[in-house]
Amino acid sequence: MANLLVIDDNAANRETYADILHGEGHTVLSAASGEEGLAKLGAAAVDAVLCDLVLPGLDGLGTMELAHEKQPNLPWVLITGHGSEDTAVAAIKQGAFNYLTKPVDLGRLKATVESAVRLAQANRENRALRRELGYDEALDRIIGTSAAIRQVKQMIRQVATTDATVLVEGESGTGKELVADAVHALSRRSGRPYVKINCGAIPRDLIESELFGHERGSFTGAVAQKKGKFEFADTGTLFLDEIGEMPLDSQVKLLRVLQDGALTRVGGNQPIATDVRLVCATNRNLKNEVLHNRFRMDLYFRLNVVSIAVPPLRTRREDIPLLARTFVDRLNRKQPNQPQKELSDAALMALRRMDWPGNIRELENTVQRLYVLSAGRVIGGDGLANGIATADSDPQPVGDAITTSAGPADAEAAIRLLIGLPMDEVEKRLIVATLAHCGGNKSKAARQLQIGLKTLYRKLEAYGMMPAGDEAAASG
Ligand SMILES: Nc1ncnc2c1ncn2[C@@H]1O[C@H](COP(=O)(O)OP(=O)(O)OP(=O)(O)O)[C@@H](O)[C@H]1O
Ligand SMILES: [Mg+2]
Repeated sequence: MANLLVIDDNAANRETYADILHGEGHTVLSAASGEEGLAKLGAAAVDAVLCDLVLPGLDGLGTMELAHEKQPNLPWVLITGHGSEDTAVAAIKQGAFNYLTKPVDLGRLKATVESAVRLAQANRENRALRRELGYDEALDRIIGTSAAIRQVKQMIRQVATTDATVLVEGESGTGKELVADAVHALSRRSGRPYVKINCGAIPRDLIESELFGHERGSFTGAVAQKKGKFEFADTGTLFLDEIGEMPLDSQVKLLRVLQDGALTRVGGNQPIATDVRLVCATNRNLKNEVLHNRFRMDLYFRLNVVSIAVPPLRTRREDIPLLARTFVDRLNRKQPNQPQKELSDAALMALRRMDWPGNIRELENTVQRLYVLSAGRVIGGDGLANGIATADSDPQPVGDAITTSAGPADAEAAIRLLIGLPMDEVEKRLIVATLAHCGGNKSKAARQLQIGLKTLYRKLEAYGMMPAGDEAAASG
């Protein structure tokens, strides 16, 4: 028995199909338009869809395409008019499971829907099995076989099944967002909303309204009532990215919501109950922020129920070749008709040696650059030596930002900074970006920044970015 959705604007057809499929023991939902069909798909678990190709408004192919964005494995059987074989072929190319031509032979209808249902069931069993075995797409997206990454994945598996608040900590570009995504994807909330908000990209005075919503007229510009991200995330997961950037007064409000399990919109006084699982990420050391009174200790303890530390790339260099090869594979797949490129051993070795202050994001940018620049099929490491490779390692692209030139060092290399970013954060980002630009060469970076090498070491140490063994150089 399966849940089926029939989409057809003709009521008589809908009834005929539904009768037949009911007779086979299936539950049948029906919709008179593509739009209605999509709404039903969003609201109920459906195993297979039977859809007329010609519909008023959104047509069958368009409806299928939109639905496949969210449910790529859902099998669709399309019904095409008599003699429109080319449309049928196009439908298959676009990912339809099969098609039926009008007038629909009811025996074929039963058989085709039956095999679509079997495919859906096989897909589902396959997914369940993979999960049981510890595989999951969301986890597979986190590439790496180092002990450190395996431990991160193990943590994700453990915490995902709970409702505990998770704090993901790690330097910029280490994959914190991938970790947060996986926590949601592996949790029992995975079919529910997953809402992300970057606290560093929203002007300070709008953060509360973004998070908790506002009532009409609560402040200038609040022309209509608005729901906040908390309400949108209800029954699902809310990802608060760059939580360290949240202003102290908003932190108070967030804490209250977490304690009460209810929020009030800005300018409102009606408490609204929320059921939201919170995942937060930060590239700052939050404990340090607490010590400097920039982050509330009580909120810190609330958020830090479970913390997952994502290790910097330079502490798990063994992952670099696999990551770099994966990035090349992805680029190859984007151009299947071009010669398929590969990294030379020398390039892989050079990549392994670099320090990657911008972590995996920087590695990915670098590999892309090498890929584009290499004329032949084998990608050499030449670009790495002269700094071309890291010229664009922008560690933090944020919304509503200004672009500053990195100064006389290189007119083309730039970082984007949010207006109003704290001065020490600006300094950190500039230092990290300059270091990346210099391929990890600290003396060169210090010269470009016009600061002493010792000062640079001291600052890197304060950011927790000093690889073990470099201390000697710093004090020498
Ligand atoms: N282990 C990994 N395997 C594959 N890709 C990764 C991995 N970690 C990170 N990436 C990729 O690197 C980029 C940066 O990752 P992500 O945005 O998750 O980092 P972040 O820690 O959130 O950085 P930031 O603090 O700057 O927001 C993304 O394109 C992501 O897909
Ligand atoms: Mg991020």
